[in-house]
Amino acid sequence: MPQIDRSPGVVLVTGGCGFIGSNFVRMLLSDEFSSQIRSVIVLDKLTYAGNLENLTDCLDDPRFSFVHGDIADAECVQNILQSSPVEALFHFAAESHVDRSILDSTPFVQTNITGTQVLLDEARRAQTPLYVQVSTDEVYGSLGPEGLFSEQTPLAPNSPYAASKAAADLLVRSYCHTFDFPGIITRCSNNYGPYQFPEKLIPLMIANACEDRELPVYGDGKQVRDWIHVLDHCRGIWLAATRGETGEVYNFGGRTELENLSLVRRLLSLLNKPESLIRFVKDRPGHDRRYAIDCSKAERELGWFPQIPFEQGLQETVDWYLQHEEWINRIRSGDYRDYYDQQYRNRS
Ligand code: NAD
Ligand code: TYD
Repeated sequence: MPQIDRSPGVVLVTGGCGFIGSNFVRMLLSDEFSSQIRSVIVLDKLTYAGNLENLTDCLDDPRFSFVHGDIADAECVQNILQSSPVEALFHFAAESHVDRSILDSTPFVQTNITGTQVLLDEARRAQTPLYVQVSTDEVYGSLGPEGLFSEQTPLAPNSPYAASKAAADLLVRSYCHTFDFPGIITRCSNNYGPYQFPEKLIPLMIANACEDRELPVYGDGKQVRDWIHVLDHCRGIWLAATRGETGEVYNFGGRTELENLSLVRRLLSLLNKPESLIRFVKDRPGHDRRYAIDCSKAERELGWFPQIPFEQGLQETVDWYLQHEEWINRIRSGDYRDYYDQQYRNRS
């Protein structure tokens, strides 16, 4: 295993109030990282998908600070990078839902492409020593029944979401090539776990089943996704940052390929709900058929491997949503948006 040659102590996390970002921030503030992490700054616009409540247990940590702002706002990013000695910038912030990108790609281009360009320019200006672009396997397009995406697979994004992420990846690549910029790109398959916004497949199906509402399965339900627990992804991102080579791409996947229908049936079984709740609905336009990741480079070069078995992770995830019914209800009712005001009204 390669030697650790970097261990950033002051980090900037964009999109830290979203699903993966909040899990990453919590991981960095956990005891496991206490000897390394001195400061975690979260920059988040708090879009519909950003929920400061996801970080309730981190807000009182003296190492944590929050900036409410837009990654596409150069002045805001510049202020952060000039006022703090950021040693690594982890870029999670994005518009992340494929179905929304089909309805309107405008915010995807603005945040995912322009936002990334602003971060790259400001990180260059501030000479930030390390930049990690959190990307997705969706940039590779769709697979047939055989084969896996490797880091060499040509980019062939099919949805506006995937196209905006691919554009951002290419910007990072170009900055590494042209300016010797210290960027690393990670590309991961579908994440599951706590704090995922209930518009994505797993939390949506759990939330609907709990209310005995129909579970909308797109098309024939035989599309395949490769599921990985969010904490395995977060560990991978950290290992890419500390052990990876700048200018490189690292794929992460869970080695757990499942058809959507089979996953939905498992969820119903874990929830003791009938399969009659399944409703086949019109397919998503341009729906990618299969994603599956070859993560052997990360295993070989970073010493990373997925540690959370899917059966265990899925059961724990179902339990988490059952224990956090209020969290789902507050999101579904829109009440979670008041949390920021309440939190910061009391603090200012
Ligand atoms: P998410 O939608 O749950 O969270 C996105 C976060 O970014 C939110 O907190 C939102 O408020 C914030 N944000 C959006 N626009 C912003 C802006 N202009 N400025 C500042 N903050 C902004 O997304 P997620 O599922 O946590 O995904 C995080 C990253 O990981 C994304 O870049 C996504 O492309 C990538 N990714 C996700 C998955 C997955 O399965 N969810 C898989 C691979 C890669
Ligand atoms: P999603 O969670 O949106 O992730 P992605 O599209 O980025 O892979 O969807 C996962 C799979 O589940 C995808 O094949 C689309 C399908 N899906 C449904 O069948 N029904 C739904 O209501 C949703 C949200 C997704």
